[in-house]
Amino acid sequence: MCFSNIVNFDINGCNYKLPVVYGTYCYEKAINISQLRENTGFITFDPGFKNTGITKSSISFIDGEKGELLYRGYPIEQIINKCSFIETSYLLLNGELPNTGQLKSFSKRIEEFNSISKEIYKIFDKIPAFYHPMGILSSLTCILTAFTDSSTIQEEKDIYFHLLAKLPILAALTYRKKVGLPIHYVDVEKTTNNNNNLDYNYTYNLLKMFFSVPKKSYQINPVIPDALEKLLILHADHEQNCSTTTVRLLSSVHANLLSSVSAGISALWGRLHGGANQAVIEMLENILNSGGNIKKWIEKAKDKKDPFRLMGFGHRIYKNFDPRAKIVKKVAENVIQKLGISDPILELAKELEEIVLKEPYFMEKKLYPNIDFYSGIIYQAMGIPKDMFTVMFALGRLPGWMAHWKEMRLNREPIGRPRQIYIGYKKRNIH
Ligand code: CMC
Repeated sequence: MCFSNIVNFDINGCNYKLPVVYGTYCYEKAINISQLRENTGFITFDPGFKNTGITKSSISFIDGEKGELLYRGYPIEQIINKCSFIETSYLLLNGELPNTGQLKSFSKRIEEFNSISKEIYKIFDKIPAFYHPMGILSSLTCILTAFTDSSTIQEEKDIYFHLLAKLPILAALTYRKKVGLPIHYVDVEKTTNNNNNLDYNYTYNLLKMFFSVPKKSYQINPVIPDALEKLLILHADHEQNCSTTTVRLLSSVHANLLSSVSAGISALWGRLHGGANQAVIEMLENILNSGGNIKKWIEKAKDKKDPFRLMGFGHRIYKNFDPRAKIVKKVAENVIQKLGISDPILELAKELEEIVLKEPYFMEKKLYPNIDFYSGIIYQAMGIPKDMFTVMFALGRLPGWMAHWKEMRLNREPIGRPRQIYIGYKKRNIH
């Protein structure tokens, strides 16, 4: 049962009544301040949007206190065990899991768009191999608008398939150029998914696009596509994170989906967001190379005068374990064990986690490992270079971005345009 629909509050002796908005769970509640300035002259001040709900959404839900994540109501632990990435993408975009027919036609539509134009190849050719892969991915995604533009919501239906098909190709091209492999087109293979449906095996093909070499049949240890599938699903959506909010803001001004996703990729690149997966491995390597003194690095992270933070720890919403991090840790251990790798970085990560979880500083601030803490270890075991880790995150987050972009348009949300408190000069004259 929900509570009062109105809150009373006083400003300078005047009483105001403000409506309360409730979510599916009654403890998710917000004071609707949309008329606040009109009625009182005040706005609210909330840097970083720590206490601001910017929308109503039905795509994913995080209970940060319990450490729970739901996609369209389904717990992430169930999705991981029962669904493929393509089924998850369908779920996020359409609200329900697909039946066999829906899954087949969804997969087929992705296959239809599984190529990129010669013009894009020409542009790609000119990009130096040393450019950061996130910059390349963001730019090329935006450039795709020239070849796959759309302006109506009907036409935009195709755009979802374009993007699901083309983003992995752009990522694979970037990887191949980086490591000096020949650039080539993709063979689509049919293999069975978790539900034994004949399904376009998105993840297997993604890996094949990355790693296949000429004149050799592509062989891969099944533990790798299985791990990547799980990572893509775990990254698929995470409600109003920075990159998704970026995509939603662009959707609010009716920017097209491709340019909105391109902006999302740029936002994801930041080291406090998706870029943390690269930063975690760099940090662990630094700790290892400087003698492995974990305590010293923990002290640095606690020191307010030192800008260093323990990468892969903390989260705006989770004040308990990030449920994705628990799964990723198990996947990392499984991959390392099945591939027979001895990885000092994994051992160091586990040791660091153990110490940090007992440290009063981190306990008091409720800082737990997040999804990025162990994901880089898996990417590294797969042979993905460090500066491409966040590209892999982007491939996973794509269906979430698209679902949020679509939700904004379907709900006819207003333009996202915050206010500010101006603290610059008062009006003055040029002498
Ligand atoms: N190491 C040391 N101290 C930390 C850390 C950390 N990783 N994270 C937060 N704190 C401290 C912070 O200094 C602050 O202390 P105080 O209250 O004394 O000023 C307190 O904890 C609260 O931190 P905050 O920065 O106000 O919290 P936030 O919600 O604004 O930031 C965060 C969340 C993820 C940006 C932050 O925890 C962080 O910088 N973590 C490291 C980067 C990282 O792993 N990012 C990946 C996030 S998960 C994947 C994704 O969604 O992108």
